[in-house]
Amino acid sequence: MSIVLIGAPGSGKSTVGKRLARRLGLTFVDVDHRIEEVVGKPIAEIFADHGEEYFRAVEEEATIELLGSCGVLSLGGGSVMNAAIREALAGHEVIWLKVSVGQASRRVGLNTARPLLLGNVRGRLIELMRERTPVYESLATEAVETDGRGSAEVADQLAAER
Ligand code: S3P
Repeated sequence: MSIVLIGAPGSGKSTVGKRLARRLGLTFVDVDHRIEEVVGKPIAEIFADHGEEYFRAVEEEATIELLGSCGVLSLGGGSVMNAAIREALAGHEVIWLKVSVGQASRRVGLNTARPLLLGNVRGRLIELMRERTPVYESLATEAVETDGRGSAEVADQLAAER
């Protein structure tokens, strides 16, 4: 069984996951990083060169494969919209890092590494979160508020509960 972090871009999945894993003595893998390793280029270039459909196919394969290992995993914010990934999450501990649009857009800033948010970060986050929030909620075995809290505090809370 893995501990899986889900949530919107800017919810802190990678930073919280890294610290949580260290606290629990588990391995940590960020699925976005694994995809970059597999394809051999950054996410933004994968989208630009091959398109979103290709990215989603690699994401599906990488996520499902990594779910087979025991450790802490942070998923891409959009991965939960894939039915095969949702199915593969069954039986794992799924932690939803909740974040408001305002806080997420401040954390993401003008980071161009996130192709889906380019142009209008706040507007795109509102759209994505409207669609995804019910899905995050339905998959979560635990939900944690991250607004106004540092990633260390969130990770320490999650570690203390385990
Ligand atoms: C995406 C989120 C990104 C990354 C890709 C697509 C999304 O991950 O997987 O840019 O669809 O929201 P983060 O949630 O880590 O930003």
